[in-house]
Amino acid sequence: MQSQDIFDRGNWGSKLAFVFAASGSAIGLGSIWRFPIMVGLNGGAIFVLCYLLSVFFIGFTVLLAELTIGRHSQKNLVGAMILIKPGTPWKGVGYMGIITGVFILSYYSVVAGWAVGYFYKTITGAFRGEVTWQASDSLFRDFAADPLAVVICLFVIIVITTFVISKGVKGGIETWSKILMPVLFILIIILSIRAVTLPGSGTGLAFYLKPDFSAFNLNVLFYAVGQAFFSLSLGMGTMTVYGSYITKKENLVSSAGWVCFSTTLVALLAGIIIFPTLFHSLHLTPEQFKQEFEVSTGLMFQAFPIIISKMPGGYIFGILFFILLLIAALTSTISMLEVPTSYLVDEKKWNRTKAAVLIGTIAFLLGIPSALSNGGVNFLTKANFMVIMDLVFGNIMLALGGVLICLFLAYSWKVKNSLKEISIGSKRFKLKTLWTFNIKYLAPFAVILIIVFIVIKNIL
Ligand code: PFF
Repeated sequence: MQSQDIFDRGNWGSKLAFVFAASGSAIGLGSIWRFPIMVGLNGGAIFVLCYLLSVFFIGFTVLLAELTIGRHSQKNLVGAMILIKPGTPWKGVGYMGIITGVFILSYYSVVAGWAVGYFYKTITGAFRGEVTWQASDSLFRDFAADPLAVVICLFVIIVITTFVISKGVKGGIETWSKILMPVLFILIIILSIRAVTLPGSGTGLAFYLKPDFSAFNLNVLFYAVGQAFFSLSLGMGTMTVYGSYITKKENLVSSAGWVCFSTTLVALLAGIIIFPTLFHSLHLTPEQFKQEFEVSTGLMFQAFPIIISKMPGGYIFGILFFILLLIAALTSTISMLEVPTSYLVDEKKWNRTKAAVLIGTIAFLLGIPSALSNGGVNFLTKANFMVIMDLVFGNIMLALGGVLICLFLAYSWKVKNSLKEISIGSKRFKLKTLWTFNIKYLAPFAVILIIVFIVIKNIL
């Protein structure tokens, strides 16, 4: 497969290539940055449990649905819905995904930009020697509050993402993901081993892995479901586009399973690094943590320098970690930008470069308020603008998109037609009955109920 025509509707070179590329989209800041924040804000292990259940029952279901729609139609979500059900409003779900994607790209790129800043800081020796919580905390706050630095870093991310997408380099993504994802994974395993051997790590592990069922409430479930959608890149058509490049030979079910497994594993390991490190340096009990500790959007950036400074060869480790984090983030931003770009190229016959530059520019401008909102400048609202964007687009809109994709597949396209597509390449689908039940009933209605309750609870 030629690298050039990658996104000009070529196919992935092999099943492994697809799993790597889709995992490249899925594994990113969602697992390493967002997941630990959600755990910290939502009661620790109880959130982890709800997240695992959400991935298994809802995430896998929607992922397989998106891949199936994509491979069947060989199109992006808008094109797929027009092809499968012409003349119906279903294509609106695709448009919704495009808008959601541009908004998520805007603030996600801000955080990816922080990784650029931290990469630079590591190289210039900011984390040499022992790093304490206080030092790391104020370093993050100063950095995130520097308007010029964060906007430049945001710009760098958008430019790289736009460049890759405008060149249509699927081959490039395949190669990067294949080599670098396993390296990131090994690095994360090494860091987690170091984290669990720190004195005092036990309390962090207990907070992270021993569920306190009394902390369960609907909010926890809402954020866990949202996190499953976010981390698996679901609900906005990304996996539909990726599915459209899978050949008929491949097994969609096991591909979906592998993407869920690898993404979840990275998220779980990120938590294993962050919580023992935090509890080690703060000397807190889980109770004190819940009551006194302020979980900020910088959690990962505050914790990683500490653990890296505790590694032999920490300087090199730090450089390696932040560059790999950056690449993991870029493989995700690239997949986000691919959604609107492939729509404009496939459906509106735009030139790829023009489409990518236009959307990239919009995402950059939309990202500026988020970039500035972590230093006390808040736009429109009293709360952190980026947190609100993440709640609306990263949680609610993705979940809503996912629900509509389930309803489309189950009640418009029909499960039996999708099962025909799935059966090409996967002879035995052991979870067929469970998946059918989930896509028709459990996933859409559970998510709708959760969203409705949350909205009622917060508005009334
Ligand atoms: N799954 C990515 C991550 O966890 O970092 C974020 C993401 C990518 C969300 C693509 C949605 C998307 F369409």
